[in-house]
Amino acid sequence: MAIQTVFLLFSGLCAQFLTGYAATALSEYPSQALPLAGILNNKAATSAEGRGPVANFDGAGGAYDSQFLPTGSWEYDGLTFALPSSWDGNNDNVLANGQILRLQKPTFVHELHFLYAGDGTNVPVLSVFTLNFADNTSHQVNLYAKNWWVWANVNRAAIHHVHPYHFEKTKKNLNATNIFEWSTSVPSESPLESITFPPRATSNRMHVFGLSITPSTTDAGGGPALPWEDIGGVRAQAVEVTLANLLPGFTLSRNTSITTPHTIELVGSGMQTVSTGIINRLVPGDQARVDVFVTGSTANGSARVQIRDSSGSVIATSADFPTSPLVENYTPDQDSLSMHETPSWWNAAKYGIFIHWGVYSTPAFAPPTRYAEWYDWDIRQPPNASNPTWEHHLQTYGKHVIYDDFIPDFTASKFNASAWVDLFDRAGAKYFVLVTKHHDGFALFDTGDTTHRNSVQLGPKRDLVAELLQTAKTEKPDMHRGTYYSMPEWFNPDFAKYGFGQWPGNLAHNAFNVSPALEPYTGRLNISDYIEDLQLPQMIDLAVKYDTEIMWCDIGGPNKTLDFAATFYNHAMAQGRQVTINDRCGTLPDFDTPEYATFGSIQTARWESSEGMDPFSYGLNLATNASEYKNGTTIIQTLVDIVSKNGNFLLDIGPTAEGEIIAPMMNNLLDAGAWLDFAGDCVYDTQYWFPASEDPNPPTDTQSPRFTTTPTTFCIVAFSQPVGGKVTVNKRLPVIEGDEIVFLTPQGPSAPLNWTVDEKSGRLVINVPESEITTVDYAWPFQVQYKLD
Ligand SMILES: *[C@@H]1O[C@H](CO)[C@@H](O)[C@H](O)[C@H]1NC(C)=O
Ligand SMILES: *[C@@H]1O[C@H](CO)[C@@H](O)[C@H](O)[C@H]1NC(C)=O
Ligand SMILES: *[C@@H]1O[C@H](CO)[C@@H](O)[C@H](O)[C@H]1NC(C)=O
Ligand SMILES: *[C@@H]1O[C@H](CO)[C@@H](O)[C@H](O)[C@H]1NC(C)=O
Ligand SMILES: *[C@@H]1O[C@H](CO)[C@@H](O)[C@H](O)[C@H]1NC(C)=O
Ligand SMILES: *[C@@H]1O[C@H](CO)[C@@H](O)[C@H](O)[C@H]1NC(C)=O
Ligand SMILES: *[C@@H]1O[C@H](CO)[C@@H](O)[C@H](O)[C@H]1NC(C)=O
Ligand SMILES: *[C@@H]1O[C@H](CO)[C@@H](O)[C@H](O)[C@H]1NC(C)=O
Ligand SMILES: *[C@@H]1O[C@H](CO)[C@@H](O)[C@H](O)[C@H]1NC(C)=O
Ligand SMILES: *[C@@H]1O[C@H](CO)[C@@H](O)[C@H](O)[C@H]1NC(C)=O
Ligand SMILES: *[C@@H]1O[C@H](CO)[C@@H](O)[C@H](O)[C@H]1NC(C)=O
Repeated sequence: MAIQTVFLLFSGLCAQFLTGYAATALSEYPSQALPLAGILNNKAATSAEGRGPVANFDGAGGAYDSQFLPTGSWEYDGLTFALPSSWDGNNDNVLANGQILRLQKPTFVHELHFLYAGDGTNVPVLSVFTLNFADNTSHQVNLYAKNWWVWANVNRAAIHHVHPYHFEKTKKNLNATNIFEWSTSVPSESPLESITFPPRATSNRMHVFGLSITPSTTDAGGGPALPWEDIGGVRAQAVEVTLANLLPGFTLSRNTSITTPHTIELVGSGMQTVSTGIINRLVPGDQARVDVFVTGSTANGSARVQIRDSSGSVIATSADFPTSPLVENYTPDQDSLSMHETPSWWNAAKYGIFIHWGVYSTPAFAPPTRYAEWYDWDIRQPPNASNPTWEHHLQTYGKHVIYDDFIPDFTASKFNASAWVDLFDRAGAKYFVLVTKHHDGFALFDTGDTTHRNSVQLGPKRDLVAELLQTAKTEKPDMHRGTYYSMPEWFNPDFAKYGFGQWPGNLAHNAFNVSPALEPYTGRLNISDYIEDLQLPQMIDLAVKYDTEIMWCDIGGPNKTLDFAATFYNHAMAQGRQVTINDRCGTLPDFDTPEYATFGSIQTARWESSEGMDPFSYGLNLATNASEYKNGTTIIQTLVDIVSKNGNFLLDIGPTAEGEIIAPMMNNLLDAGAWLDFAGDCVYDTQYWFPASEDPNPPTDTQSPRFTTTPTTFCIVAFSQPVGGKVTVNKRLPVIEGDEIVFLTPQGPSAPLNWTVDEKSGRLVINVPESEITTVDYAWPFQVQYKLD
């Protein structure tokens, strides 16, 4: 069956199978470990529990188990790091404390790589490193540090324990414990002299285990310097090739850049490139990523990358790298499933609508800073103790109304699936994710004999998930369909044996101490195991019966996600579809999901931020004044900012219990959709620009314009209305004489605009008539169209 898929793939459909990712950096992309010996000041690892004060990574006596850590010169993803020759000796890492690490000699640097871990728990924390250059300029690097151990979710880590645990003072903590790798581009217009570490934090402190640089080269030999950075996905027929131009940034000119179409192909015994990658523009300091599609990739085979210039001559060939065959059938194990990646449709889509709709849409209330969909939990924290939700309930409904009494009022009486998907389409969204069951355990689909706590047996008596997904499939076939699913349930007694934290699983205690003290769990059926008999079958139904394309789990925790994922991927592959799962299913994520948060810098691992249109709620909160909702400006600027940093934006709305999307939410979605209608080329199917997501030194009173790229264009999206008929960007961009720059407006692209680049500083000034500027709201998109000689 997978073989058929292969042919499907190359028959002109734009489906791709990015089923694997096994990055291999090649010798042409050399990295150099930076020695940290002089500034090591913390001991992270030990070989035994009860080690006394010696190893104390987190300030509370915690430590890594040294038996799981590699030693000495260590290669990860083709990058070389210098780790301690033994973890049982002296200090082994740098606890950030404002140290300054000087390079042995000032060096033009293309990319900087970190091996690091934060010592707090769970949430990523911003650490700012400062790069100091020979020309006395400096540049700040924003590293969103993942902490060393993670609860519930699984991160991608460079070094993770085979037996995931770390030592606490007197016992083992069995949470997965990691060291992470992170890379960032470095401005290469001046040599790097030193790196200033972040100041010491009081919690969530930053530890660095290794640093490595990829130097630029000044030896261009009369053209761009073209090594390969890495090659991923060699298990699949889609192979991602990253090409870097290692010349330093200040040398940008036509003769140091790729400015004509170059094709990238793979060559190997028995292997055929069926779709080449094309690179039209690659300037010094930049990288380009292309997918090359091959057949005939075999286990134990080898291949190399070849680049042809526009006349068809091979101008460069990489070293050989090992290949592996296409995954034709996923099996429920880490090795097989970890080959899975986000599909290219998800990467290109950029913008989705999240829908929090359920029994909590009936009370539709939360005090500031609480989520309305947490009503059932908040009302009894703790039972019979006044809090704003408890007070609201008492005043609005009285103490005899319990949460399950809201079920009949969740009617969906005005729900029109056609109207919803039509709205999402006009809003410019390329996918949606519907909450199919939140922590209250009330499902919006037919949960068969796992439970009758659902909208088919109760409330609306309708299969709301089927209605929305089926309607989307038939009426908007290009719109992708996703399902949110809460892995645990707050008050399901069958979950009690797995309960943890805020998901104890015992019946809810009445919020007002009214008898009976324990509230019913309406619709519950007699099952023997929550995971086997409820969670897994429900998830599989969403995959197989409802054909979801995104499994967007929440909370993680106990799971059978390996079994689920194999079924999910194989079912979709058999139908020639590509699907994906997020990082909250308990294991093996395709993408990370920061919540009401975004990253301030490019993250090369796939990610998606979600936020409500409400400033602090996903479910409808009628206590919020609609004037506080995200509007055209905030939706578009949030989206473009996220896209410039390689993320997707999942914007949430909360319909009413009747199934209506209230006018202010609808209008704001449509405002953003109107902008995307004429400026979408700067958003959909773009890639981040490796050297920078935005202008680091915008003119005063101007917010930094954001950058996005496609193979033939480069976009500059200004976040404030240009004044005086011009836009200035204080950053050397991949713009070369002969390129045309147009302004995207509701009336269509403008005529080519006049522009100049100051040769010395690289500053770009674009002149744009005032009459054009005022036709655009929210954000001002300028598109550079490359001249291909
Ligand atoms: C950088 O600053 C130092 C000390 O202030 C000065 O001696 C040097 O000339 C400056 N270099 C440049 C390139 O401005
Ligand atoms: C998910 O299930 C796997 C396999 O049983 C287990 O190893 C993992 O710890 C679970 N994840 C969480 C977060 O509990
Ligand atoms: C994970 O860490 C938390 C906080 O230290 C702890 O309460 C919990 O028991 C740990 N989980 C496991 C499985 O050890
Ligand atoms: C590229 O061209 C510039 C003039 O435009 C020249 O100064 C420079 O030496 C050339 N560089 C190379 C590597 O040929
Ligand atoms: C590939 O190599 C492995 C280990 O050397 C061997 O077990 C396997 O049979 C080989 N596979 C093929 C297709 O040659
Ligand atoms: C549902 O919405 C669609 C699209 O807006 C509309 O054409 C249709 O008449 C609506 N159906 C009902 C029953 O209101
Ligand atoms: C619940 O709280 C109210 C007022 O806060 C108090 O009057 C009442 O006695 C409490 N009921 C119980 C059963 O604790
Ligand atoms: C639940 O099912 C078990 C086993 O199938 C059975 O022994 C038990 O009597 C059932 N309980 C109820 C309340 O139906
Ligand atoms: C909502 O905000 C608007 C604009 O700030 C204000 O005029 C209106 O009075 C507010 N309404 C409520 C109910 O607070
Ligand atoms: C949009 O929202 C932002 C942030 O709340 C606000 O500053 C701005 O004035 C709003 N724009 C309009 C047109 O209401
Ligand atoms: C561009 O510059 C030319 C000559 O300087 C001028 O004639 C023309 O009007 C300018 N065009 C725009 C769109 O500013």
